[in-house]
Amino acid sequence: MRTVMNKKIIALFVIVLGVAIGSTYFIAKRQMVSGVPQNLPHYHEADLAPFDGSNADKPIYIGLDGYVYDVSKGKEYYITGGSYHYLAGRDSSKELDLIGGEIIKREYPVVGVLAK
Ligand code: HEM
Repeated sequence: MRTVMNKKIIALFVIVLGVAIGSTYFIAKRQMVSGVPQNLPHYHEADLAPFDGSNADKPIYIGLDGYVYDVSKGKEYYITGGSYHYLAGRDSSKELDLIGGEIIKREYPVVGVLAK
């Protein structure tokens, strides 16, 4: 009788532990999209225009594949007159599809979600 009770208690314990681990994993996964924090501000493409590298007081943003990257760290490329100024302050997903996109994703932080 006691062994049956012990087995039931162990089974219950395993179930509770499983639910706890499972829900922690589920919640953690929902909060991360491949390493990107959630609850970021949403930007429409037009919202990015003021962040095109023409104003030294503002950060520089590029929209790429659904996210907004802060490329201020590489401002020499993106300020007015820089080789890639035309990519800043807008959704440049198409332009960066073949070249440059992976550098942006690797080097710069995501600061927002690019709203459709
Ligand atoms: C003749 C063609 C091109 C040459 C010689 C060239 C050269 C370079 C060089 C030397 C870098 C720096 C590499 C590094 O930091 O690892 C770079 C970075 C980059 N290139 Fe190009 N590139 C060319 C075409 C393009 C095109 C067509 C695009 C996109 C439309 C592009 C987008 C970028 C971007 C976004 C970066 C990252 C800049 C940063 O670090 O913030 N490139 N390119």
